[in-house]
Amino acid sequence: MKQDGPLLDCHLFVCTNTRDVGESCGKKDSAMLRDNLKEWAAKAHPEWRGRVRVNASGCLGHCKRGIAAVMYPQGHWFTELKKDDDAVLREAIESTMNSVTKLSMEPVPEKTTNEN
Ligand code: FES
Repeated sequence: MKQDGPLLDCHLFVCTNTRDVGESCGKKDSAMLRDNLKEWAAKAHPEWRGRVRVNASGCLGHCKRGIAAVMYPQGHWFTELKKDDDAVLREAIESTMNSVTKLSMEPVPEKTTNEN
């Protein structure tokens, strides 16, 4: 499948699924958590536009341990989040983006040759 846009450095999925019966992230106001993170990323870090995305997701399979979220491509999982745990996820995103930026700013080593 062809990629339409640039690859993201950090893509966070926050489960907002709501089940009629049983536990689910949506019943714990996960949409508020997702909305707050999305707003924060856009306002605090406009330079991340096109590099960071915060999306709602369907069930991530951790309903009893929700609110659940997962960050790609890092593959970091978060469970037992509360609706006001945006600081936890902000820190994770910032840490990821600092690493990405640091790595992309590393100087390219000069090529050396053994020709004398
Ligand atoms: S409802 Fe969120 S992980 Fe299942």
